[in-house]
Order: sequence, then structure tokens, then C-alpha cells
Amino acid sequence: MKSQSNKSPLSRRAAAVRPFYVMDLLARAKQLESEGRSVLHLEVGEPDFPTPQPIIDAGILALRRLKTHYTAAVGLPELRKSIADYYLQRFNVQVDAHRVIVTPGASGALQLALSALVDTGDNVLLTDPGYPCNRNMIRLLGADAQVVPVGPEARFQMSAEDIGQYWNRKSVAAMIASPSNPTGTVIQQQQLSELIAAVAAVGGQLIVDEIYQGLVYTGRDFTALQLSSDLFIINSFSKYFGMTGWRLGWMVVPDAYVDAIDRIAQNLFLAAPTVAQYAALAAFDRACFSIMDNRAAEFRERRDYLLPTLREMGFVVPVEPEGAFYIYADCSSITDDSFAWTHSLLAQEAVAVTPGIDFGEYEAAKHLRFAYTRPIDQLERACYRIARFIK
Ligand SMILES: Cc1ncc(COP(=O)(O)O)c(C=O)c1O
Repeated sequence: MKSQSNKSPLSRRAAAVRPFYVMDLLARAKQLESEGRSVLHLEVGEPDFPTPQPIIDAGILALRRLKTHYTAAVGLPELRKSIADYYLQRFNVQVDAHRVIVTPGASGALQLALSALVDTGDNVLLTDPGYPCNRNMIRLLGADAQVVPVGPEARFQMSAEDIGQYWNRKSVAAMIASPSNPTGTVIQQQQLSELIAAVAAVGGQLIVDEIYQGLVYTGRDFTALQLSSDLFIINSFSKYFGMTGWRLGWMVVPDAYVDAIDRIAQNLFLAAPTVAQYAALAAFDRACFSIMDNRAAEFRERRDYLLPTLREMGFVVPVEPEGAFYIYADCSSITDDSFAWTHSLLAQEAVAVTPGIDFGEYEAAKHLRFAYTRPIDQLERACYRIARFIK
């Protein structure tokens, strides 16, 4: 007789993973494109620029030299050293290369950090709005996301007061991203110092996602490592370095965690992609930095066009987005349902933007995220259509 199980074939954790709402929108956009409409994409969260040529050349060379085997789980020693040197040269911070772990994207780094810190039933504080995958990764580990609503008064960033309010006996860590996705805001150094102290005072760990480092347009770009070495710093070659598809990132962890993370990485990933690691070695050349900095300057021009234009149309952006390539706009003077609005905008004007619901629940219906990952002429066309739609 066949044995019967009452259990659903899908784990409860898997069933709880939420999709990106914008994916439905993208499917609809693809359909419109197949019908011959030109869709303007302000929803895409990756640079439109290709990987800088010296990095591509280094990747091709690595393949020709048959660099096709696994590396150490924590990454190529020379790449870990280059990353450590990057902190010294760019931020004047001494980082021991031993603390640098090379990962499959920031996504891999986040999974490793959370796996090293979280047990079943624990919780992790994270911001709403915030990068949506974190909540799902935490839930997949059998832990809970302890959501901290953040607004313009704290630059959409977590503060020390939030630790006082939301930390409980099950909390083990807090996570922030600066510059943030979706708001583009940078946490101020004073606020970050206080947050670091508050998390340390309750005996927790702070994870600081610096994936948009290098894409800071106002004020000084900095790393939280300038304030403390007792942090989990997440970074990636995806955004500033333009390598999304190569799946390569890194993290800097407190010394005491290196061994555990090495063991977890061996088991979860074996190693980050080898060709990508060799290619990334070229990313730290002066020639590459000048390509990437020129691109950052282009992003800044786009922001400087899009921000005032959206404000003129009636969107409210209370805090200047200083980095990344996103503007998180309050659309409550235009609609009280940002989700429905994005669908009507796409249907009528063929412009795709991301509804607030993709980044959490706090005031989500009042917000939209505009990504300026397209050239200015496309942003202009999109704004023309959005203005027409609002009228
Ligand atoms: C804040 C943040 N962290 C992490 C990631 C993951 O990036 P990747 O795995 O490509 O490095 C993203 C991607 O958009 C992000 O916005």
C-alpha cells in the first residue's frame, strides 16, 4: 500500500516566500513589447551599462588559461587581498584580508551572514521599506523578520531609538543598507555610530549592506568599517562594478566568525564563480575605476534630472536620495493605491515603475520606486508619459 502523507509537498518556509509583485508587471510589459509597444523601464534594479571592458577581458583570459576549477570556499587569496587594499586606498581603513570572504553576489554574503547568526525562532531587525529578499532569507532559516518602519525623519534608516523599541529577547541582529534600496538614502555617520553602539549594547550583531558603495552623489562615500571592525559588511561587484550577471560579491566579517563562515560557504556554495573572481581582479585597476566613476557621474546626472522632474509632477520626495539609483516617491497626492496605479500606468502609457508593496507594508500604497537605470532621453520620455497619465 502506498504510504500517505498529510504534509504538503512544499515546505512551510518555501510556501511563505513572497514573489516580487513587479514580476507580474514585467510579464505584462513583455507582452506589450511583443505587441510592438515601446515600454520605458524605470523598474530595473541593475545598471544599464555593460561590465567594464578590462574586467571582461580578464574573464576571457581566465577562461583561455583554463581557470575553470573551484577556488577556496572563501575566495581567491589575491582577490581577498585586492578587496582589503581597496578599503585602504579608498577609505583609509586597514582590513585584514583574512576577514574578507568572497561570495556569490551580495545575495550569497547575506545568506552566509544570516546562517552564521540566526537560529530557529530568533529574529532579525530590518527596515520597512527595505530590500525584500532579506525578509525571505530570514524566514527560510526558520527565523522571523522584526520589521522596523522607517520614515523620512530618520532618512528611511534605522536608528538607535529603534533598537530600544524593537529589540526583544529573540533578536540577534539588525540589518541596514546604505545607500538604501529602495530609498537611495545614506545613513548619516552620527546615526550609524549610535546604531552600532545600540546594537553592541544589547549584545547583537549589525549587518551593513554597502552594495551601492561607489554610487554616492551627494556627501562623502564612506564605509561603516571606518567606525567599527565588529560588523558584518556586505558588498558586491554587481552595482558600481557593473557585474550583476557574474554573481560575485564579498563580505568583511569579525575575525571570530571567519572559520564558521568558511565552513558554511563550503557547504552552501563550495565557492564563488572562479572565472568571475579572476575577472574581478581587474576591477581594482586605475583604468577600471575611471570607467566606473564616469558611470557614477552619469547616474548622478540622471538623478539630478529625475528628482526635480518628479517633484514638479506632484510626487513628494522628502529626503534627497544621495546614492544607489532609486527614488522612492510618495505618490499620495496622485493616488492612494500605488499598486493599481503602476498597472494602469503600464497599460495606458507603457511605463514600468515598482510599487511600494515590493519593499514592505509600511505606507506601501503611498509609495513608488523609480529606478534611473536608463539614459536621460528615456527618462525624459517616461516623465512626459507619466505627466500625461497624471493629467
Ligand atoms: C540592497 C541590496 N542588497 C543585495 C542585493 C543583491 O545583489 P547581488 O546578489 O547581485 O550582489 C541587492 C540587489 O538589488 C540589493 O539591492
